[in-house]
Amino acid sequence: MARKILVTSALPYANGSIHLGHLVEYIQTDIWVRFQKMRGNEVHYVCADDTHGTPIMLRAQNEGITPEQLIDRVWHEHKADFDGFHVAFDHYGSTNSAETKQYAQDIYRKLRANDLIETKSVEQFYDPVKEMFLPDRFIKGECPKCHAKDQYGDNCEACGATYAPIELINPYSAVSGAQPERRSSEHYFFKLSDARCQEFLSAWTQGTLASQAIPPLQQEAANKMKEWFEAGLSNWDISRDAPYFGFEIPDAPGKFFYVWLDAPVGYMGSFKKLCEKQGLDFDSYWNADAKTELYHFIGKDILYFHSLFWPAMLQFANLRTPTQIFAHGFLTVNGEKMSKSRGTFITAESYLKQGLNPEYLRYYYAAKINGTMEDIDLNLEDFVARVNSDLVGKYINIASRTAGFISKQFNGSVSSYVDALKGNEILFGEFIGAENEIATAYEQRDFGRAIRKIMSLADRANEYVAQQAPWSLAKQEGQEQKLQAVCTMSLNLFRILTLYLKPILPTLAAQVEHFLNIAPLKWSDTDQVLHGTINNYSHLATRIDPKLIAAMVEANMQTMAPAPDSHSQVRHAEAQQHTAESGTQTLPSPQPSPLKGEGANVVAIAPTISIDDFNKIDLRVAKIVNAEHVEGAEKLLKLTLDIGEAQTRTVFAGIKSAYDPATLVGRMTVMVANLAPRKMKFGMSEGMVLAASGEAPGLFILSPDDGAQPGMRVK
Ligand code: MSP
Ligand code: ZN
Repeated sequence: MARKILVTSALPYANGSIHLGHLVEYIQTDIWVRFQKMRGNEVHYVCADDTHGTPIMLRAQNEGITPEQLIDRVWHEHKADFDGFHVAFDHYGSTNSAETKQYAQDIYRKLRANDLIETKSVEQFYDPVKEMFLPDRFIKGECPKCHAKDQYGDNCEACGATYAPIELINPYSAVSGAQPERRSSEHYFFKLSDARCQEFLSAWTQGTLASQAIPPLQQEAANKMKEWFEAGLSNWDISRDAPYFGFEIPDAPGKFFYVWLDAPVGYMGSFKKLCEKQGLDFDSYWNADAKTELYHFIGKDILYFHSLFWPAMLQFANLRTPTQIFAHGFLTVNGEKMSKSRGTFITAESYLKQGLNPEYLRYYYAAKINGTMEDIDLNLEDFVARVNSDLVGKYINIASRTAGFISKQFNGSVSSYVDALKGNEILFGEFIGAENEIATAYEQRDFGRAIRKIMSLADRANEYVAQQAPWSLAKQEGQEQKLQAVCTMSLNLFRILTLYLKPILPTLAAQVEHFLNIAPLKWSDTDQVLHGTINNYSHLATRIDPKLIAAMVEANMQTMAPAPDSHSQVRHAEAQQHTAESGTQTLPSPQPSPLKGEGANVVAIAPTISIDDFNKIDLRVAKIVNAEHVEGAEKLLKLTLDIGEAQTRTVFAGIKSAYDPATLVGRMTVMVANLAPRKMKFGMSEGMVLAASGEAPGLFILSPDDGAQPGMRVK
């Protein structure tokens, strides 16, 4: 009997572009869905943009548009990217929809009726300039542990400490730069610490409920859950104060659902739209007693939301819970985290723009996906090598070496069933016989295993072609029938390989179906054999030119960020929304800004450094208490500097050409105070004074504005 299956991928945030990291998830889900559809199951695949929250609100403000305009534009961009990679959602919606709002509010009301909502006053940072409460990630300050400057409100990138924003030293708002105030307001909580929730979730996550036929989580995820349980579940803060782009909480004026409350409800909202389009029965997929299957594909970073908050929301709103949650790892490129400065933060759009075949990436990802939460590496050299050798060199090669004979010498006619198979029963049987193993691998999302099996079959097919050598048969008298049979057999094997690869390579498979003149391949078609005539072979795939890869990386290289303006910090912070709200990733470091206007003709800016690198330099305001010529030195002056320490410092500075020592005495300047002391011909130099110079002659030491005192830190 056909299974009824609802499948989702996580809803991408509506404030950033789809990149190759995202595609690990969407391609993976799409392959699984296509496989299930080929099997004859009734499958519905829905997704949507995740449109709410502070970062989206602020970004729209920065762009001078409404949040609705922003999310509408991004929706179209996302949709185009997914279409480009053949990710075939049955419906792609938006969380900012009437349906999602209604379900979110319904669920909330049911939780409240179940006495699982409570309110509590929460003290939080408030930006008095922007007149809004600040999410943790929009507050910065000095780390309370290691004192690194400019750390985010929830964790320190320098020492890795986690803390509450309230603990930051000298906090400031990353939105306005203002010093935040502490203010209290009423927040709404989902009482996850309630015994009913604890009991339900500890059973549900381990798959021990009577209603659970299979464990809902991968083993590694279930283990993670145990750890989280042992740490204790606290109540979940589901409200945010206005101004907030989201849905209002019923009977709570000025309070909005936190984006993560309505985000997963977006799965329901999007599916509801599909039901309306196609006349499906929504309730049979969401009622508490639903017999249908529900699967969520997600990245490991959002496991907490999907395996604790979401099932609890559903359970206590009297809805069904997910059958299984499939978590995957993160994409690395060339073994490292995707990086804007290295050009490996590659957008989906830029890949397509190079004219690279989207199915090549699908193939490569499939080869690496194994159904676990391990990270997946896109090694760009290996990508080229593997696509060229396996896909083009092995698979396509089978058709390109044999199809021409059928068209040219036999007018497109293939051999009869009997002729084609004679003597090849074992080989053919091997191809059909692999069906179960490959199907199991697909079912378990171990696409890598499926591909290994398929490629080993492709090797067998190529061996067969090589042994039979149709090109020599073609030259021999009286071997016509043999030639036709060998080529037909080869194309039969090619047909089966195409069927096995179809979930991964849907458009290539469609081209092959046309070429072989066969109906769209279904999984149950494995044991069929070609008959009648086929169409002319036209080239199916070309090798990747590595130059395109280099050009793509180049196009994604960002060494220069937008010019500094009052919003640059916001733009930086919102670049990745879930950094902002769930705080699991680290942010890219700010980039140097381009020099503009006069003097633009300057040596190239040095490579990007992180704020931590910069913080290693201890710059101090220094008072020049004495300056004198050094006997025998052509360029140096000897400076005595007061930087607020018990002892003055001696620094030899190469500024003799520009300054008369007498004019320097009593001046303030800036020095590097933690430079290793250096023994010079004339004595020990205990630091360095900073000076500007260009191509034109002239040397200019720095001076702080009036009021700066010796010893003040410059940062
Ligand atoms: N909006 C939330 C999900 C809400 S679901 C109710 C979100 N959005 S996201 O745009 O940040 O990520 C969408 C999906 O892509 C997530 O499952 C995430 O794990 C995945 N990935 C984002 N970057 C990724 C990589 N670099 N590698 C692999 N998957 C990645 O989270
Ligand atoms: Zn720290």
